[in-house]
Amino acid sequence: MTHTLVYPITAVHNAVGHLEVGGCDVVELVRGFGTPVVIYDEATVRDQCRRYVEAFGEHTADFEVIYASKALSVLAVEQLVLEEGLSIDVSSGGEYYVAKNAGFPPDRIFFHGNNKTREELQLALESGVGFVVVDSFQELDLLEELLAARGSSQRILLRITPGIEAHTHSFIQTGQIDSKFGFGLVDGVAMEAIRRSLESRHVELVGLHAHIGSQIFQLDAFRKAIEILVDLIRQAHERFDFVCRYLNIGGGLGIRYTEADMPSSIGEYVTVKVEGVREEMARVGLPMPRVLIEPGRSIVGKAGITAYRVGTIKEVPGIRTYVSVDGGMSDNIRPMLYDAQYEVMIANKADLPPDTVVTVAGKHCESGDVLVKDALIARPEIGDVLVTPATGAYCFAMASNYNGSLRPAVVMVREGEARVIVERESYQDLVAKQRPLRG
Ligand SMILES: Cc1ncc(COP(=O)(O)O)c(C=O)c1O
Repeated sequence: MTHTLVYPITAVHNAVGHLEVGGCDVVELVRGFGTPVVIYDEATVRDQCRRYVEAFGEHTADFEVIYASKALSVLAVEQLVLEEGLSIDVSSGGEYYVAKNAGFPPDRIFFHGNNKTREELQLALESGVGFVVVDSFQELDLLEELLAARGSSQRILLRITPGIEAHTHSFIQTGQIDSKFGFGLVDGVAMEAIRRSLESRHVELVGLHAHIGSQIFQLDAFRKAIEILVDLIRQAHERFDFVCRYLNIGGGLGIRYTEADMPSSIGEYVTVKVEGVREEMARVGLPMPRVLIEPGRSIVGKAGITAYRVGTIKEVPGIRTYVSVDGGMSDNIRPMLYDAQYEVMIANKADLPPDTVVTVAGKHCESGDVLVKDALIARPEIGDVLVTPATGAYCFAMASNYNGSLRPAVVMVREGEARVIVERESYQDLVAKQRPLRG
């Protein structure tokens, strides 16, 4: 029996009634690798990458799909993404380092960040970064200074804040642009950034960038952002002869966390982005730029599941039953940060009917450390292997050592084989960087 749309594409219930992913029995994986463990399905990561590349290919030959590595900055996963032909974006020196170590040629790396440090920019310039996505006037000045000292030039995009606030079911255009990111349109700020970049001796302004938000279901928001960006391009063309060769319209495609979620398909999303740019550029009579997008969540989100062991079960009569697992907010902060919703199942009871409503709690010293409220699962028992699907993006990436937790092991599965791609931390790791006062 194939599993639901929230799980990796290879997920099935196997002959012994267990959840299986990538040909590996999850209960066996847990026996071998311990808990919590994050399990990535190689086939799903590749499938998502291919869907993007194929969808683009149906519209244009001039495109670039850029994996937003903030969703998961792990060597082995980035190597898959590289093999599938994607470029990569990084938002810190650390992510840059991982991407380079994964084998990305520097010229396929896009460097983001609203507060890049001198050291980060230097590191990127020295190793030949492809594009810096400039976020502020201060960064423009700093870049100019560093490039002048090096006697080199650098291709840049300017990050524009188009004033679109995207929500899952609607979008509004904000009069006041209130964002720490990028150059806003109010008071001609974005136009001034374009002017200064074009006048600069060392930066080469090749295009614009905008990212309006994440987990977006409403594609109209992207269409609106494109319209606004293209209007800016038209004005900059009229005033400065600016030619926009690259238009990066960010990431943001929502994914299914629960069966109730109804995100658009990659095909629909790409159509809106590419055809939106084509229509708008035709409207203003300017040539079509290379279209760039930066998906993160939709590349790795569905590919990852997290498996925990149930440790305690507490019934509060007439109110709820808490099922506590051996992880929680230290490996998945999203429920606390964003009130994110997840599904749950018991991997060793995959074939049993889900007939019990429970609240899945973590093991941390915070009452709010709850992974899933009112989850419907098979009757839980101590020792069960509890799985939360769709935890591949922004979970391990945000993992912490809170309460002395060890960051979990990460395992990649494929055709019945499993290999560790990130070792579980040890207690020694917790103190490895600490220096005692005495002794
Ligand atoms: C600049 C930028 N690009 C791309 C992304 C990736 O977005 P998503 O994971 O929603 O596809 C983000 C995420 O917030 C971002 O800030």
